[in-house]
Amino acid sequence: MSHSLPWIADALNELAAEGLLRRRRVTRLLADGHCETDTGSVIDFASNDYLNLASDPRVIAAAVEALQSGSVGARASPLVCGRTEWHERLEQRLAQFEAQPDAILFPTGMAANVGTIAALCGPGDLILCDRFNHASLVDGCRLSQAQLRVYRHDDLATLERELKKGAANARRWIVTDTVFSMDGDLAPLPDLCDIAGRCGANLIVDEAHATGVFGDNGRGACEALNVEDRVAVRIGTLSKAIGVQGGFVAGPSELIEFLWNRARTQMYSTALAPAFCAAAAVALDIISNEPWRRTQLAAACTLFRTQLRIAGIESTATSCGPIVPVIVGDPQAAVRVAARLEQQGFLVGAIRSPTVPKETSRLRIVITCAHRDEDLGRLAMAIGEEVTQFV
Ligand SMILES: Cc1ncc(COP(=O)(O)O)c(C=O)c1O
Repeated sequence: MSHSLPWIADALNELAAEGLLRRRRVTRLLADGHCETDTGSVIDFASNDYLNLASDPRVIAAAVEALQSGSVGARASPLVCGRTEWHERLEQRLAQFEAQPDAILFPTGMAANVGTIAALCGPGDLILCDRFNHASLVDGCRLSQAQLRVYRHDDLATLERELKKGAANARRWIVTDTVFSMDGDLAPLPDLCDIAGRCGANLIVDEAHATGVFGDNGRGACEALNVEDRVAVRIGTLSKAIGVQGGFVAGPSELIEFLWNRARTQMYSTALAPAFCAAAAVALDIISNEPWRRTQLAAACTLFRTQLRIAGIESTATSCGPIVPVIVGDPQAAVRVAARLEQQGFLVGAIRSPTVPKETSRLRIVITCAHRDEDLGRLAMAIGEEVTQFV
């Protein structure tokens, strides 16, 4: 430990004592939703590869082809050295997929959220932000220097009251995830749109966990809840159901042009690797052409929730779709149960503070379309036994 930073050892010891220390580890993705960890081959119920596209041979082949015909890295910010044909094609494909005139890419979903919010909102504005929003939305709000009010999760009365109080602010914004990443529930988007309408506010939403999963065409929760035209800004990521890496905004041409000129996480960062662009474009084709993935995923989610109930476990009532939280409470207990599940062949996330409130440490089980019915049943039984025995 460096002599100039002696407090770091104390901070790490404190985290360990509270059961909050994160452990680095290596895992290797295998086929069909399995991965290899230091405990052997396990079924992956921890990652966000909802449609099993991260290891799809067609997606990988597209990345390889782009690698072989160009460069590995994008070499600079796209505003400095230009972007490749792979970037342009992906922007066009995303715009088409999202039924919008144009799209802009970011190096990650985190960069898309931070950069977009900080570009659009500014000092003098008022932002209302759901308490359970992803860290990247919160960081974007903070960076914007707008006045920030965090409202209790889904507390629509407070949201409306606070927005009304901000009538003198230059602009008013509601910022929300459409699917909350640790609770798996959908934001009440039609209500949020109504409130925005009544209060002269605009909605910025993050569809990270909804793209590819919700909506008849896989465009996300806004499509599923029929509010696409009522939401001012929709941000997405390529790293979850699309199975690759990167972030994006698809929307009206003026919005995209504005972000090209003002979103600092895009302007001052090297562009996405071209191979990721090629891979993501093929993944979008697969999502459009193979709707059975979404259907199969939805059936697996229903089956798993039923099996959990049979095993005596209630997930949170509001969760729907592929993210299934099982609240354990104590952080050390969550880690212990996850480790025991891994010994039985299931990789499950143990989620603790600061990602979720301290007293709500949980298992975060993620269902994908690669999971087989029998594995869903076995995992539900295992969770039932472990949670009742060890918590
Ligand atoms: C809701 C939400 N938004 C944004 C992100 C960031 O996306 P990315 O991993 O592509 O940076 C995440 C990632 O965990 C997320 O859960």
